[in-house]
Amino acid sequence: MKSRALIGLMADGNVHSGESLASSLGISRTAIWKQVKRAVAEGYDIDTIRGRGYRLKTPVDLLSHEDIVRHLPPAICQRLQLDVLDEVDSTNAEIIRRRPSLGSPVIPVCIADCQTAGRGRRGRQWQSPRGENLYLSLGLTFRGGFAMLDGLSLVLGVAAAEALEAAGVDRVGLKWPNDLFLGRGKIAGILVELQGELEEGVVQVVAGIGLNVHMRRAEGVDQAWESLAIASPEAHWSRNLLSARLIASLVAAADQFSSEGFEAFLDRWQARDIFAGQELTTSQSDLAGIGRGIDAAGNYLLDTGQALVPVRAGEISLRVQS
Ligand code: BTN
Repeated sequence: MKSRALIGLMADGNVHSGESLASSLGISRTAIWKQVKRAVAEGYDIDTIRGRGYRLKTPVDLLSHEDIVRHLPPAICQRLQLDVLDEVDSTNAEIIRRRPSLGSPVIPVCIADCQTAGRGRRGRQWQSPRGENLYLSLGLTFRGGFAMLDGLSLVLGVAAAEALEAAGVDRVGLKWPNDLFLGRGKIAGILVELQGELEEGVVQVVAGIGLNVHMRRAEGVDQAWESLAIASPEAHWSRNLLSARLIASLVAAADQFSSEGFEAFLDRWQARDIFAGQELTTSQSDLAGIGRGIDAAGNYLLDTGQALVPVRAGEISLRVQS
């Protein structure tokens, strides 16, 4: 973002004269005018108010490495290598490119202001408009082989839900396996990708979360969605504070998952299950039943009337019967 300094000055949404902006940045008023044009081309909504100056139509919540670090517990912060980027194809892809060396205890974390090729589950795109939402990925290492990955995905959903609840978001629901819901709309999605096996049984994964923060409109999203700004318009949402809370919660959950396994998360997941008691069907409509929560391996249980049938994450998706 070339206009970052300008946007930083205007972030409050007040009117700023060309003269005051020019003097703050040590450039001419003509240079400010050019920067405003560039910022508009980058996607910022800026009003030019004749005789008064410029105003961002909606205040901007800029990402700041310093501010995220300030909000992180020091014991977690010192384990991270945190990169805050202006733009990237996908934060998951970036973590995969930065694959840490064998045995390194450092947890790489990448946050970007926008993604040009954000990826969702099942090969879908993840809409990642600039400045609106949170796009965050971490590289994690686990013992236990590939078999633990289904459980991990649910664990990260619990951790993200708990982080949002601690930030004041009410009644965060989990849609199996790991979508976060507010009411009937999806507020966040998690994508866990396998990086590889370092040595026998030691797997590296990248866990990415996309959280809708300020977004008020989205084109081409084919499912009901929510954002924190829509759900709680009166609240002030800081992407830096939310990032710090999410990172701290995800790292703590990964530690607990490593030492205690999935069992420590089972009840925490069930308490937020939005499918419980609903009439569900698999994506291929070959199985239908009432949602009865997850089993000890993280499979979703469908009560068909004859039996409790476990549905495995990664194989099938579930939806509420219409
Ligand atoms: C889903 O489909 O629900 C999962 C969406 C995951 C999106 C996040 S945004 C940060 C990270 N980088 C990506 O490219 N995808 C994940």
